[in-house]
Amino acid sequence: MSTAISPTAYNYKVVRQFAIMTVVWGILGMGLGVFIASQLVWPQLNLDLPWTSFGRLRPLHTNLVIFAFGGCALFGTSYYVVQRTCQTRLISDSMAAFTFWGWQAVILGALITLPMGYTTTKEYAELEWPLAILLAIVWVTYGLVFFGTIVKRKTKHIYVGNWFYGAFIVVTAMLHIVNHISLPVSLFKSYSAYAGATDAMIQWWYGHNAVGFFLTTGFLGMMYYFVPKQAERPIYSYRLSIVHFWALITLYIWAGPHHLHYTALPDWAQSLGMVMSIILLAPSWGGMINGMMTLSGAWHKLRTDPILRFLVVSLAFYGMSTFEGPMMAIKTVNSLSHYTDWTIGHVHAGALGWVAMISIGAVYHMIPKLYGREQMHSISLINAHFWLATIGTVLYIASMWVNGITQGLMWRAINDDGTLTYSFVEALQASHPGYIVRALGGAFFASGMLLMAYNVFRTVRAANPAQAEEAAKIVVVGAH
Ligand code: HEM
Ligand code: HEM
Repeated sequence: MSTAISPTAYNYKVVRQFAIMTVVWGILGMGLGVFIASQLVWPQLNLDLPWTSFGRLRPLHTNLVIFAFGGCALFGTSYYVVQRTCQTRLISDSMAAFTFWGWQAVILGALITLPMGYTTTKEYAELEWPLAILLAIVWVTYGLVFFGTIVKRKTKHIYVGNWFYGAFIVVTAMLHIVNHISLPVSLFKSYSAYAGATDAMIQWWYGHNAVGFFLTTGFLGMMYYFVPKQAERPIYSYRLSIVHFWALITLYIWAGPHHLHYTALPDWAQSLGMVMSIILLAPSWGGMINGMMTLSGAWHKLRTDPILRFLVVSLAFYGMSTFEGPMMAIKTVNSLSHYTDWTIGHVHAGALGWVAMISIGAVYHMIPKLYGREQMHSISLINAHFWLATIGTVLYIASMWVNGITQGLMWRAINDDGTLTYSFVEALQASHPGYIVRALGGAFFASGMLLMAYNVFRTVRAANPAQAEEAAKIVVVGAH
């Protein structure tokens, strides 16, 4: 479907492209998640081939779900939100198109190089230097498009959602560039510019803020636009949203050392990371409450609107994982949880419950508007998707809690004579049922994505280009 290039219309083409790719990469990334979860149940699925082994497919899973699925959702929604709330077209169609194709190229590069075993070995920053440079160029262009659009806005103030998207873009650029400084020795191999504990600290400053700014702040931008829109209510408290913004970005950046408890990192840095993580509970819950309370007077809509349910339940999982995170950051708790499946459960409470659910809700909200339809092809399919996603997430997290605590307790159990009560293999055997339940939960979640793909396909096929063009027209009014 083509859009007339007109300064009086929004650029929906790039939003459509990113929205569709969110669904495509979601299916692939989560499908791969189910596959590696199954490898942990049936190791034969490693197929005795290096490129299908768990060790190579695991980073491909994380790159596909975080950068491909999550990234496309963030690009697409931010381009949609910034245009609509600034009542102006993106500053440049060609630069926006470059970000779309450039981003897909980076992901394709990941799809090829990670199974081949090319990796920097830094978690969530595995891509080798040529791809890391391409990513940096795409990201800087993204920043120019986003902030350029804000500069030429027709509205007086900058809606708070854009503050969150803006912080996510700036901080992600900073993290990516600093953590990737390295010395290439060949086309596919580079060595980090940092060494030892410094390297570890920079990596987890990156890693934690990838969580804080990529997986949280960007998605909060999404929350501040799509929750009020779908609930048809103004945000509960604009003042709270500003406090939320400044408190969140000020605190997150210090919490990275909680990933390095009991390591060679200086003890004071570990304690600082712990304290900052505990304080982080306050702004995180402030944001969650702001989103939830937006539904005041509109709670009844949850009964009939599964899109709103996706958005609200994502906030509940956000609240849950941002309560759990500060607890796990306490050193004594971390001594039990670290290295166990508890961490994996925490990750997916955030990843499935928060990141994926809010993205799914936002895409369901946007698709009909982008394609000139009143609503999605089938509301009951959205409802079925909602239940598959919710049950899948609960099965995933609950099984990993049980596994994590079992592992932690079994590993630390000691006999009177000081020997270990359990061998590692015994703890692994005890984890087996949990791995089956996790794979099942993942399969629930991923099959919900297939329903979404079908629903999106039917809605797009029934697109009404004239209506879509009408909807893309910029009407400058006081409110949006
Ligand atoms: C169907 C859904 C999914 C399934 C079945 C799944 C499964 C898995 C499995 C089996 C692992 C490896 C765990 C281990 O090493 O013990 C993993 C790791 C991970 N997954 Fe997923 N995943 C899914 C969706 C997602 C999504 C949507 C995201 C992010 C938005 C995500 C982010 C991650 C991250 C960050 C890790 C690494 C965790 C760590 O190192 O602590 N996953 N996933
Ligand atoms: C206040 C908020 C949060 C705090 C204080 C926090 C804290 C923590 C802690 C202490 C760990 C375990 C570190 C370790 O033992 O290695 C962890 C791991 C992790 N968390 Fe959170 N968390 C928070 C929110 C979230 C959210 C909302 C998400 C996802 C969207 C998330 C994603 C992750 C990931 C991906 C890891 C695994 C990192 C790795 O080892 O690969 N966290 N978090």
